[in-house]
Amino acid sequence: MPFQDYKEGEAPLIYIITPTYKRPTRYADFMRLLYTLLHLKNIHWLIIEDGETTDVNIEKLLSAYDIQHTYFAQINNLPKKKRSLIRGMDQRNAGLNWIRLNHNIETRAVLYFADDDNAYSLEIFDEIRFTKKVAVFPVGLTNDEVIVRNGKVVRFGKQRKNYQRKFAVDMAAFAINVDVLFRNPKLQFESKHPGYLETNFLEKITTMSELEPKSYNCTRVRKIKT
Ligand SMILES: *[C@@H]1O[C@H](CO)[C@@H](O)[C@H](O)[C@H]1NC(C)=O
Repeated sequence: MPFQDYKEGEAPLIYIITPTYKRPTRYADFMRLLYTLLHLKNIHWLIIEDGETTDVNIEKLLSAYDIQHTYFAQINNLPKKKRSLIRGMDQRNAGLNWIRLNHNIETRAVLYFADDDNAYSLEIFDEIRFTKKVAVFPVGLTNDEVIVRNGKVVRFGKQRKNYQRKFAVDMAAFAINVDVLFRNPKLQFESKHPGYLETNFLEKITTMSELEPKSYNCTRVRKIKT
């Protein structure tokens, strides 16, 4: 892989948190992400089923490949009305707690949220692997834009209609160093405002000027949201 030019053993671990749920396209979506991640070294994929139990076909798929992973189920605790507006929140929080309980803090690691219904370019994983605190990069087919001046993020571009988000980014447009989880033991996603999950989460841990712009100062798109 030409862009993986670091030596083995020097690469920080990447935890990839993927909430998943039953739907007609789930196996096709899941396989696309699985085949992307199979190209990477030194990752730990956390797949969290939205439901009471894991899915036997997903388990079979995972066990057929050599990929470091943990797959478990987490029920959705949100009231019914909110469930379709806020998907995967309890599952992402369960992933964060899993890392807090299982990660060896001696190991350098970063964390990335990758839903299974998007397409990802391999380059982003190399770019986020060395995230010091919080990294951001642009995502295709959304209105989200990251405006960088002199190597610093100064603001986010177009807002979604009627939204006023400080950090106007998609879930898969940022990565964080796992140290942040240990320095903020209560950090999790909260359901107060649908559409504000990402910004509320990021506002608790970082500032605009501290963000690390990836993808050539946010000029290249690394992931396609579908
Ligand atoms: C990002 O911008 C800074 C400041 O203009 C520049 O020094 C740096 O080389 C740029 N990085 C990339 C990867 O283009």
